[in-house]
Amino acid sequence: MSDGLLDKVNKRRTFAIISHPDAGKTTITEQMLLFGGVIRSAGTVKARKTGHYATSDWMEIEKQRGISVTSSVMQFEYQGKRINILDTPGHEDFSEDTYRTLMAVDAAVMVIDAAKGIEPQTKKLFKVVKQRGIPIFTFMNKLDRDGRPPLDLIAELEDLLGIEGVAMNWPIGSGQTLKGLYDLANNQVELYHQEGEDRFLPLDQAGLLPATEPFSQNPEFQDTLSEIELIKEAGNSFDQGKIAKGDQTPVFFGSALTNFGVETFLKSFVQLAPAPASHTINEGEELSAEDAEFSGFVFKIQANMNPHHRDRIAFIRVGSGEFKRGLDVTLARTAKPIRLNNATEFMSSERVQVTDAVAGDIVGLYDTGNFQIGDSIYAGKRKIVYPPLPEFTPELFVRVTAKNVMKQKSFHKGMNQLVQEGAIQLYRNYQTDEYILGAVGQLQFEVFKFRMKNEYNSDVEMTSIGHRVARWIDPDQLDPAMSNSRNLLVKDRYDQPLFLFENQFAERFFQDKYPEVKLTEKL
Ligand code: G4P
Repeated sequence: MSDGLLDKVNKRRTFAIISHPDAGKTTITEQMLLFGGVIRSAGTVKARKTGHYATSDWMEIEKQRGISVTSSVMQFEYQGKRINILDTPGHEDFSEDTYRTLMAVDAAVMVIDAAKGIEPQTKKLFKVVKQRGIPIFTFMNKLDRDGRPPLDLIAELEDLLGIEGVAMNWPIGSGQTLKGLYDLANNQVELYHQEGEDRFLPLDQAGLLPATEPFSQNPEFQDTLSEIELIKEAGNSFDQGKIAKGDQTPVFFGSALTNFGVETFLKSFVQLAPAPASHTINEGEELSAEDAEFSGFVFKIQANMNPHHRDRIAFIRVGSGEFKRGLDVTLARTAKPIRLNNATEFMSSERVQVTDAVAGDIVGLYDTGNFQIGDSIYAGKRKIVYPPLPEFTPELFVRVTAKNVMKQKSFHKGMNQLVQEGAIQLYRNYQTDEYILGAVGQLQFEVFKFRMKNEYNSDVEMTSIGHRVARWIDPDQLDPAMSNSRNLLVKDRYDQPLFLFENQFAERFFQDKYPEVKLTEKL
């Protein structure tokens, strides 16, 4: 390992933002990009989200719906660190893609609307992040509006998510009466509606303002002081070890829209968030992020990002070594050698050629069909295989056929590619072999249909099967006679059998009838 590589890896901070739609993820991302100098004015990311931003409008659906259905990567320098923000689709129907993106980050930022508290989508995404055991930072947003009492919000973290919250700062007033933040981490007050360095008032060792400071008499500040006393006595104490494992989350308050508290948050985040860590490879070995040999894994494949250049990009999370243009690697699954000539890294609005990338960075490789989700690639002689990415159990199912029977070829090609990309999951009826698609949300089907028509010139017919509970069964225990109209028997793309139960009641009925049969679900 060279000192140069170690230095570079230690500068990386790679994270994703998780939140319920409308909590303010886009707004806070935009503020961060402004601090990073990537964009020059607020509204750029927002415009993209609402569909007015031509260069990243790669899909009509995205425009029509005004939502971001694809994850992208944003990279910038901040305070000597190289930040990679992995964007996650805002729409809950795309959570499958989001889940996989969360496998490629070293930390997560959870944005919560302080008026609403923890909402369903946050809870779902939190579950995935928690399983990874990575640090989670919380930003309680929209402080400029009347919100829930901060103590309640912190208590809710523990009650609903089972994670300890430790306050890094505390609001002084809220909504109409918002006056500032009491910054416990930096021992200062940060005033709202005040520009430049004047907005900071240093606190003394006892955490008080000097009596000569007029703000010390402010009634909201007085209230905050009593709350601070309470949390110092009864609140959780900052514990770096717990934070590293995701058992405690540092909590910051602020208002992304008025750009209040975001800079303070980002500065602390950059200091506290971890540099890329080692990975477990080859079913048990530890691979250090500073290992000299290049390796990485594909966590996302996206076709036709730009309709004018029919391309397919495999997103690689670099896990070790250094990526250089023209690097020769091996694809672990097939042992096929590949020269990495054509790679891009991602700035928020444009793609640029990668010069070098190290652990923590994301590289986009132009792909001619070599890669699958979860693939590992490595340079050198030692084989490196990353653990498989988790699969998520779909909840919605449709039967699918080609409208025009003469066009089977394009139908199969499109289907194969979109399944490989992880856009949708494919099953076949155990007896008849007919195609059944599974998704986490309805929108995935619509995007599938649209892309089949636009990219593969294949009109598809879909008949809904509706919500189903998918449970896998050990092939040795399977008797096809167990299947009936309420528990459809299908096989997945690895030929493993599973039942699609009409509802939980049907599943329970089945279990009562066949108590010896073990049913399993994915994440
Ligand atoms: P998302 O990506 O998590 O879905 O949320 P987004 O940032 O798009 O924010 C959702 C709405 O909340 C937006 O308003 C945004 O302006 C607003 N918002 C974000 N942060 C704050 C904040 O700190 N305070 C307040 N008061 N509002 C905030 P919108 O009306 O949906 O859109 P627009 O009219 O601003 O375009």
